[in-house]
Amino acid sequence: MTTILHLRCSPRGAAAFSSRMAVEVIDRLSLHHRGAEIVFRDLSANPPPLVDAGFSAAILGPPGEVSPALEVSEALIEELEAADVLVIATPMHNYCVPAVLKAWVDQIVRIHRTFASTPGGKTGKLRDRPAWLVVASGGWFSGPSPSGAPAQPDFLTPYVRAVLATIGIHDLHILTLEGVTRGADVADAAFTKARVALDRALPPL
Ligand SMILES: Cc1cc2nc3c(=O)[nH]c(=O)nc-3n(C[C@H](O)[C@H](O)[C@H](O)COP(=O)(O)O)c2cc1C
Repeated sequence: MTTILHLRCSPRGAAAFSSRMAVEVIDRLSLHHRGAEIVFRDLSANPPPLVDAGFSAAILGPPGEVSPALEVSEALIEELEAADVLVIATPMHNYCVPAVLKAWVDQIVRIHRTFASTPGGKTGKLRDRPAWLVVASGGWFSGPSPSGAPAQPDFLTPYVRAVLATIGIHDLHILTLEGVTRGADVADAAFTKARVALDRALPPL
């Protein structure tokens, strides 16, 4: 049976734009993977701990030894390892991921455990699997706004792509909902565009 890990990152819960589009992605994935189990984690409601001194020391301990300081990390990594598909729904906060998603990344991207440091660079230790990233933003970052304002910086999508690739997850699909706070018409158009991209990647059955 397929297991889908669904991470929600918005502080706005189910009403969030990213959360709503992620539900559509999960519904579509469930059509393609009948009987899939959905494991849902709301990172905003239950944020992972921030890195502290104990964690920083523990990750440099002998490979294979799981210090108590790594218990949360270990649980989150095992949850990710068990997933056949990953769906991350997130707002853009200050051109990047919200702090709760960064906290999750810091728990799961771990030397000796999810990546190895080799002379050729970092290599991922997890098997590749499809991952979906749904990003909602108040403005535009993939290009200029419809009124011609220059695109905002985007540290979010390259960052998520880089950290997932670091641990071995390369099969990333990105759906963006841009300009969603600029009125209902703009939000509707953003959803329509994201649905077209979803249909292309995962046709309705
Ligand atoms: C702290 C904070 C920072 C934000 N930074 C950006 C930003 O850098 N660029 C942008 O386009 N929108 C930014 N926004 C707007 C959100 O991306 C926008 O409200 C989006 O709809 C939130 O997605 P959600 O509905 O899924 O939570 C920010 C919002 C907050 C609360």
